[in-house]
Amino acid sequence: LATLPKEKGWITENLYMYQGFWHQSSRRISVETVMALQSTFKAHPTDIYLATLPKSGTTWLKALVFALVNRNRYKDDRFSTHPLLVSSPHNCLPFIETEIFRNTPTYVDSHSPRLFATHIPYTSLPQSILESGCRLVYLCRNPKDVLVSMFHFANKLRDKSRGLLTFEETFELFSKGIMPTGPYWDHVKGYHKASLEHPGKVLFLTYEDMKIDTVNNVKRLARYLGYPITEEEEAEGAVEGIVKLCSFENLSEVNKHGNLREDIPNDAFFREGKVGDWTNHLTDEMSSILDEITKEKFYGLDITWNNPI
Ligand code: A3P
Repeated sequence: LATLPKEKGWITENLYMYQGFWHQSSRRISVETVMALQSTFKAHPTDIYLATLPKSGTTWLKALVFALVNRNRYKDDRFSTHPLLVSSPHNCLPFIETEIFRNTPTYVDSHSPRLFATHIPYTSLPQSILESGCRLVYLCRNPKDVLVSMFHFANKLRDKSRGLLTFEETFELFSKGIMPTGPYWDHVKGYHKASLEHPGKVLFLTYEDMKIDTVNNVKRLARYLGYPITEEEEAEGAVEGIVKLCSFENLSEVNKHGNLREDIPNDAFFREGKVGDWTNHLTDEMSSILDEITKEKFYGLDITWNNPI
């Protein structure tokens, strides 16, 4: 295991390389956690897993899938308030990385199918997920917006007394592949390859496509997950309702206050929620460097992002 200097806090703090990817050690999502999951985690064939790199729209995807799959359960809110109106999507749909540490019940216990998320790279997933026949959705976001989102998130979480990361430093790290569960390109490539090899098992989506045409992509997601939108639901505007419930505006309002864990405020997961904010941060040179790396790493692969800017 190779280590990096830890004086900079989140992103570089106690990072370890395991099976070709960087993992943190000081937090719960660590190499030890991945190893523990690899040897003990039991997937069910009906489970649904959402896989992402941090800052790729995980929170949004969690909300959409939770709302889609449980839409009949919360249809009539005379009987129950929708969890997404009172709680973080991270509470409704946990990461397997944190789930193994929990000793209090969550929504997962009372809901079927079980819904989980993970940042673990495809090659390091617990074998039982790969063998169980369950479904997996991967959400990919363009690398420049992931970098920008990570820069802001990292500084929000940092111990201010240790100083903030500059954008140049974050760029340097990111382009060398250094971020939790990075390198970015290898993570994306692993799931992209899996989606080509197992099209019925791994669905590959992009944040950009989801933003441009949320309604049709949510319908696609519903079909893939085995919860297709019926004609009656179509007529009732069910998808539009889910899209609104999970919109940046709604979720960021619900999650204005409170803490997900002692070290993470709920609002840290909501910043701009836009495509192309990188144009406000990257110099032309930085942008060209990332284009070059991406061209080389994704050579021969059909991985593109719709970019309305
Ligand atoms: P920005 O920092 O670019 O705004 P993750 O959930 O993987 O940590 O990703 C966080 C990113 O997703 C942040 O991007 C955040 O604003 C954006 N996001 C969160 N909720 C969203 C929503 N409902 N719709 C679109 N983007 C959302």
